[in-house]
Amino acid sequence: MAIQWEESLRLGVSVIDLQHEEIFSQFDKLSEALQAGKGSEEVTGLLTYLNDYATTHFSDEDEIMLRYKYNGIVEQREHHALFKENIAKLSELLSGSEPTKEIAFKIDATLIRYFINHVNKLDKKMVEFIKPLMAQE
Ligand SMILES: [Fe+2]
Ligand SMILES: [Fe+2]
Repeated sequence: MAIQWEESLRLGVSVIDLQHEEIFSQFDKLSEALQAGKGSEEVTGLLTYLNDYATTHFSDEDEIMLRYKYNGIVEQREHHALFKENIAKLSELLSGSEPTKEIAFKIDATLIRYFINHVNKLDKKMVEFIKPLMAQE
């Protein structure tokens, strides 16, 4: 199943939206690689790229939250750290095994669904807080 960015995920701060879209296109590549039966080396490579990109995205969000003194920063940081931990765990699993159905399931649940949920709840809440402050500048 192709992973597609949905307009309903657009939050209205373009730097954040563009990065989310890019993360979605990486999810799509990951899910295609799994469906095509690609090996662990290729899947791990995609996870490494995702990890690097997510690191940049999370640090950009962190900077925005600090700038606007967002009070939900601790929760955001916890979620971001967990996402990265999940990538690390999956990379570790893939170092000892070719991608199994179980690994594909974990990628779906702990990365893709996790991220969609994060954007819909925590990032949405954060943007609702910062948008009026940005408009005052
Ligand atoms: Fe985000
Ligand atoms: Fe976030």
